[in-house]
Amino acid sequence: PVKRLTAPEIYARKGGTPLVSLTAYDAPMAEILDDHCDILLVGDSVGMVVHGLPNTIGVTMEMMILHGQAVMRGARRAFVVVDMPFGSYEGEPEVAFANAARLLKETGAQAVKVESGPTVARTIAYLTQRGIPVMGHIGLRPQAVNVDGGFRAKGRTPEEREKVLQEARDTDAAGAFAIVIEGVAADLAGEITAAVKAPTIGIGASAACDGQILVVDDMLGQFDWSPKFVRRYAALRETISEAAAAYAKDVKSRDFPAPQETYFAK
Ligand code: KIV
Ligand code: NA
Repeated sequence: PVKRLTAPEIYARKGGTPLVSLTAYDAPMAEILDDHCDILLVGDSVGMVVHGLPNTIGVTMEMMILHGQAVMRGARRAFVVVDMPFGSYEGEPEVAFANAARLLKETGAQAVKVESGPTVARTIAYLTQRGIPVMGHIGLRPQAVNVDGGFRAKGRTPEEREKVLQEARDTDAAGAFAIVIEGVAADLAGEITAAVKAPTIGIGASAACDGQILVVDDMLGQFDWSPKFVRRYAALRETISEAAAAYAKDVKSRDFPAPQETYFAK
C-alpha cells in the first residue's frame, strides 16, 4: 500500500523542493493527479469551476463533502485538504470545529483550509489543538468578494501590505501547517515566505513561495479565460469541443456506430 503524506511532512518541506499542488474535485482526476502532486485541494472553487456559480459564497458543506469523498476515492499518496465553505468557520471556534470535524469524518481527508483574515487565527489554533491540521489562505481571499467588490490582487499599497503580512504572521503563529498566498506581488510573497515558519504555497504569488497551486481546470485550458498567473499546460476546451463536433458529424452521417461498435445476434 502507498503511504500517504502527512501534515508534518508537508510542514518540513519549508525551503526545500517546492511543494506541488493542484485542486481536484472528482475521483478520476484525483487518481491521475495523485502521481504528481504532494497536496490535492478540494477547493471551494468547485462552486465556480464545476457548478457554474459566480463566486464561492454559495458553496455548501454538502458540496464539499461530496467532492471530498470523490477525491479521497481517487487519491492514494497525496495529502488531501478540503476547503471550509463560506459561513462554516468565521464565527465561534466551536462551530468551526464541528464543521471541520464533519468534513474530516465524512470524507477521510486529513486537513481543512480556511481563508485566514484577521479574525480567524484563534480558530486555526482551536482546530489544530483539537487534532485538525489547518492550512491558511491569505492575500486575495475569494470569500471576501462582497467586501472587496471583486477579485483583486492584494498588498499593493503600504497599508494593505502591512495587513497581508500581519495575516501571514497570525496564521503562522496560530499553527497552520501551510499557508496559501493568493494574488500578491512577488516582493511581498518573498517577504511573507521569509517571515513565516510554515511553507507558503503560491497562486498568483510568484516563484518566491515554497510551493505552487493552480485550479486544475485552469491549467488544463478548460476555460475561455484564465487569470494572468495561470499557465496553460493543455488545451482541453479545444480538445473536448473538437471531439464533440466530430461525434455530432458521425452521428448525423450514420458513420457512428460502425459494425465493430455494434452488437449482432449470435
Ligand atoms: O478553492 C480553491 O481552488 C483555492 C485555491 C485556488 C487555493 O482556494
Ligand atoms: Na478556496
